[in-house]
Amino acid sequence: MKKAALVTGGAVRIGKEISLNLAQKGYDIALHYNSSEKEAIAARELILNTGADCELFRCDLSSPHDAKELVPKVTKSFEGLCVLVNNASVFENVGFHDVTPEFLETDMAINFKAPFFLSQSFSAETGGGLIVNFLDTRVRKNPVEHFCYNLSKKCLYHLTKMLARELAPDFRVNAVCPGAILAPSGLGEDYLLKMARGAPMKRPGSIEDIINAFNYLLESNYVTGECLFVDGGMSLT
Ligand SMILES: NC(=O)c1ccc[n+]([C@@H]2O[C@H](COP(=O)([O-])OP(=O)(O)OC[C@H]3O[C@@H](n4cnc5c(N)ncnc54)[C@H](OP(=O)(O)O)[C@@H]3O)[C@@H](O)[C@H]2O)c1
Repeated sequence: MKKAALVTGGAVRIGKEISLNLAQKGYDIALHYNSSEKEAIAARELILNTGADCELFRCDLSSPHDAKELVPKVTKSFEGLCVLVNNASVFENVGFHDVTPEFLETDMAINFKAPFFLSQSFSAETGGGLIVNFLDTRVRKNPVEHFCYNLSKKCLYHLTKMLARELAPDFRVNAVCPGAILAPSGLGEDYLLKMARGAPMKRPGSIEDIINAFNYLLESNYVTGECLFVDGGMSLT
């Protein structure tokens, strides 16, 4: 049975590169997207060119119920599903005093509840494998900008550790914590340079740095519960 991976938010940016990397390593790809349909179709073409199979799965992860139903849909097509990458995320800069109940609900649903229920159904539907959560260098500190985003990633940090215990020995659960890698859409290189200036390595990282960390977690069969900071030391300062 051929190995397969589900990557959430796999149509663009980091998720797309992770999907391509997994395809090049021989995994078939269940590529999840929400609004980026055109980009998902283009990413599928690139993946098919590597010789891997690829199917697209649309799902709005703001609904935890829909998130829970995604894995059973994927395993119908890909029986060998053994890698789940929780990459999809929203990154909104709303201060604590401006957060509404609806906003908190949506942020937590996409960034935390979706990975929670995807992990639950992934571990129930498959015989074993690897979960990689995408966190953020910010989880080590307590910045109050992007309040709900940071809170949701901190929850996901703890979920990573708890699931590493709960799902062992059949599953490994790890995380990548990126620093300044890609500027949010609408913001240019200046944003990244400014963010990276305060980090010991004083420069932004690259997608390749993220792929290297991801591949370490993919290939290291004795590593679980690990959160790998790929941030030029940013979380130390
Ligand atoms: N970029 C960085 O430098 C950086 C730094 C720190 C942490 N990270 C973390 O690394 C991961 C990837 O970062 P990125 O910058 O590549 O991500 P991104 O562009 O901000 O978003 C990734 C994906 O999330 C999906 N998404 C958003 N809302 C959704 C919803 N309601 N339902 C389903 N999917 C939804 C989007 O899918 P569609 O486009 O299909 O809607 C998008 O492709 C994220 O978890 C992020 O927090 C990134």
